[in-house]
Amino acid sequence: MRVDRVLGIGRFTAFLLFLSAGCGGGGSSPPPPPVPSFSLSASPSSLLVAQTTMSIPVTLTVNPMNGFASSVDVTITGLPTGVTSSPSSTFTLAAGGSQMVTFTVGPSVGRANYAVTFSGTSGTLPSSAAVSLTVSGAPLTATTGNFKQQVIYQIVTDRFFDGDPTNNDPPQSKGLFDATKTNWQMYWGGDLAGIQQKMAYLAGMGITAIWISPPVDNINVGAPNAPFHGYWARDMKRIEEHFGDVNNTWAAFDSMVAAAHQNGIRVIVDFAPNHSNPDNAGEMGALLDTGQPFASYLSDPAPPNNLFHHNPNIANYNDPYQLQYYTLLNLADLNQDNASIDKYLKDALLQFQSHGADAFRIDAVKHTTWGWEYSFANVAFSAGPTFLFGEWAQGSTSDPLYFDSHKFANHSGFSLLDFPLSNAMRNVFAYDHNFSEIDNTITAENTDFASPNDLVTFVDSHDIPRLLNVNNNLNRLHEALALLLACRGIPVVLYGDEQYLHNDTNGGNDPYNRVFMSAFDTQTTAYRLIDQMAQLRQTNPALAYGTSQQRWINSDVYILERQFFGDVVLIAVNKSETTSYPITGLFTALTPGNYVDYLNGLLGGFGIAVTNGNGNNPVTPFSLPPHTVAVWQSAPAATAPQIGSIGPLLGQSGITATIAGQGFRAIAGKVMFGSTSFAASSWSDTTVTFLVPGVTPGSYNVQLTTNSGAASNTVPFTVLTGPLIPVTFTVNSAPATLPGEAIFLTGNVVELGGNKTTLDAAVGPMLAPNAPTWFIDASVPAGITIQFLFAKIAANGTVTATENSLPHTYTVPLSGVGSVTVNW
Ligand code: NOJ
Ligand code: CA
Repeated sequence: MRVDRVLGIGRFTAFLLFLSAGCGGGGSSPPPPPVPSFSLSASPSSLLVAQTTMSIPVTLTVNPMNGFASSVDVTITGLPTGVTSSPSSTFTLAAGGSQMVTFTVGPSVGRANYAVTFSGTSGTLPSSAAVSLTVSGAPLTATTGNFKQQVIYQIVTDRFFDGDPTNNDPPQSKGLFDATKTNWQMYWGGDLAGIQQKMAYLAGMGITAIWISPPVDNINVGAPNAPFHGYWARDMKRIEEHFGDVNNTWAAFDSMVAAAHQNGIRVIVDFAPNHSNPDNAGEMGALLDTGQPFASYLSDPAPPNNLFHHNPNIANYNDPYQLQYYTLLNLADLNQDNASIDKYLKDALLQFQSHGADAFRIDAVKHTTWGWEYSFANVAFSAGPTFLFGEWAQGSTSDPLYFDSHKFANHSGFSLLDFPLSNAMRNVFAYDHNFSEIDNTITAENTDFASPNDLVTFVDSHDIPRLLNVNNNLNRLHEALALLLACRGIPVVLYGDEQYLHNDTNGGNDPYNRVFMSAFDTQTTAYRLIDQMAQLRQTNPALAYGTSQQRWINSDVYILERQFFGDVVLIAVNKSETTSYPITGLFTALTPGNYVDYLNGLLGGFGIAVTNGNGNNPVTPFSLPPHTVAVWQSAPAATAPQIGSIGPLLGQSGITATIAGQGFRAIAGKVMFGSTSFAASSWSDTTVTFLVPGVTPGSYNVQLTTNSGAASNTVPFTVLTGPLIPVTFTVNSAPATLPGEAIFLTGNVVELGGNKTTLDAAVGPMLAPNAPTWFIDASVPAGITIQFLFAKIAANGTVTATENSLPHTYTVPLSGVGSVTVNW
């Protein structure tokens, strides 16, 4: 951005110098009389229309100068096919006159930014006015369980755009605003109205989903910092007054969500069920329920009726008990096993769903009671299609809790933010590590996660220094973004990265990574790159649904292939500053032929030739220059039904699940659960929704058959026994354990692992702050009498003891929370 801007000013200055040199040559003779002329202006100069039939007016004015009194002939250029104007292309306007011109955009116009120009002539005098016309995605009418085609843009609402200065320093929390934007721990004015006003900017970048920082009402006094980030809730059922209005109503949220949906953009709400707010400052952890006192950390009932846990701060981040039941960074830790807290959190989530939230980023899932979270996810999916991804921070796939992270992702209904890949990407692009780090991470995670294409990938976030803080190298940022957007998983772009924003104070650590958006330039290379790659995610299903295969690698070069049936994307990145690499021995699934660079040379890419190798096709050797990204792709029409996604991965009979892919055809076919076939709720060529059938709970291969009988590939889905209730299971007098061993819970329902005693299927490890008593929270089917027992399992999966007696039985309550205690 800086570079562009400097050049722009430079050119402008040169132009002025040229003008003044031309005018100033005459010496002492009197200046000639000013020549009458005119200018054109268009208002508004930027227009946003959705991909549907929509009309939008713009007013064109002729501004006379120096006594200009003639009329002006106006022509309109730059309108894409499918957009008409009224009046149409040529009309005449008198000096000083205005004309309203209405553009009507038909539904077939592609999503893009178009530069429209009004050119006026009067005799030999010309002038013009530019209008940027952004055609966004089609309006959204329903939520979806498939997020794989999204490109997410992460916004710290306070730091994005001030759309409503009247809410900057509200009376109930006065003094937490810093108009000078110099105190990084205060509110700076950004709000939900600001996000709404920048919808054209977002749509023009190809963004299809925004993840907004927690919008709930936060504490009203500093602790001592202001909660501009949103993670210090005081009332999870109201909207923060700095982001909405003084009465904490939902109006600004609703309005922003409606505008987003109108333009094909989904809204992901950041929601934090782990805690309320600081327990040692500010409002001392207290929580309101829609304005009424609800939970007091300082006068909390004694156990077992406590609404909070009152433990020290987490000291050992590898201890599952501390992680879930100790306090995270002095944030009053909610007791999700308490019936009131359970209901409060679930009702708050449901309220967001009823206000149109499409998906949720759940804060600190590693610190919230893991077993309870299964029931939390189940509540969301029971209310309607949605997508959930959790923040499970970890360094790499070697993290001591990596196994627990994918066990959680594979069984709970949550996907996760992809921390291991994020760290690998940062190491490679900012710290110049070997590409093998990225490749090894993708390989490991693709094996361990049931749905790797649902992992939510990122290189920058609001919690870590920006890539440009670590290494101020625009090429590397472009390369990282290109790979991120081509890689498996749902990519997140942190707001401001496309403007190259960074503040290097304290290395760019929080809060200096939470910069204020100071530019909305739609011409930066990053902005255009994101736009093009987002477009590719819509047009080539290999990005959303495909496999990942490394095709060529060395320390500096990575060539990754994504493939979904016949759809292929091949991306090549050379991150070297200086070295051009000869690429020989490269093979691809692209069919023989010539391929141009999909990015049209934006990052130095070029075309390649592919010859026949019976499917493993050789690419004619080429040389990949330093700092180059090339993307080659092909997406032939599907000749059969091909499923790329099912979401959620599990649920009880009656919930809505979404299947996505291609080639389903327009006429409805059938959904098959094993050999049971039934009708879908909705059917299109790319998306099918259905109600999970009342089949025996367990694992199924789900398949579609088209109206003409063609069968798709299958995808796995687990039918739960029923809606889930969190239950605390406690076993006394368990046998002693050796280091690495733990007690696990299993039982006769799929939710308890179907009596299996593997590390992945059984619930656990259970927790033993008071050994030999062990406990764990697990979500089990409401109203069912379950049988369960305990086993001791070693770290390598060997079962070293099981209970000998008959299994215990327990009838799960129909609502609320449960608890059961037995002896081993
Ligand atoms: C993780 C969030 O991303 C971070 O910004 C926040 O401070 C903590 N969780 C606590 O909510
Ligand atoms: Ca404001």
